[in-house]
Amino acid sequence: MLSAQERAHVAQVWDLIAGHEAAFGAELLLRLFTVYPSTKIYFKHLGVCPDEAQLLTHGQRVLEAVGVAVQHTDHLRAALSPLADLHAQVLRVDPANFPLLIQCFHVMLASHLQGEFTVQMQAAWDKFLTEVAMVLTEKYR
Ligand code: HEM
Repeated sequence: MLSAQERAHVAQVWDLIAGHEAAFGAELLLRLFTVYPSTKIYFKHLGVCPDEAQLLTHGQRVLEAVGVAVQHTDHLRAALSPLADLHAQVLRVDPANFPLLIQCFHVMLASHLQGEFTVQMQAAWDKFLTEVAMVLTEKYR
C-alpha cells in the first residue's frame, strides 16, 4: 500500500505523462524489446522490428492501463482484474518479464524528466509498478 506521500509522487509524475500515453508507451516497448529481446517472443505478431504505428498502438494501451492504476492505487486488484485474467490465463506471460518492464519504465521516466525525476519519485514509482505487476501476475497461482 502506498503512503499519501508516495501517492502524491506517483500522481505528480503521471500529470506529466497524461495526454502523451502513446509516445511514452511506444518508447517503453522499444526499450523493452531492444534491451531485453527475450520479451519479444510474446509479441510475434508485431514483426521482428515492430513499426512505429504498432508500438504506438500497443504502447498507448499499456500506458492507459497504468493511468487507470494511478487513479486506483488503493483498489488495484479490482481495477486491474480483467487485465490480470488476460496476462495470467490467456497470454501466460512469465512473471519474470515484469521487472524488466519496470526497469525500462524507470529509464523512460528518467530520460524525459531528467533532474525533475527525484529519488523519492523513483522509489514511489518502483513501489507502485511492483504492486501493479503483483496484481497482474497473482492469478497464476
Ligand atoms: C496486452 C497492460 C506487462 C505482454 C496488454 C494490454 C494492456 C496491457 C492494457 C491490452 C489489453 C487488451 O487489448 O484488452 C500491461 C501492463 C503491464 C504489462 C500495465 C505492466 C505494468 C506485460 C509484460 C508482457 C506483456 C511484462 C510481456 C513481456 C502482453 C501481450 C499482450 C498484452 C503479449 C497482447 C498484445 C496484443 O494482443 O496485441 N497489456 N501489460 N504485458 N500484454 Fe501487457
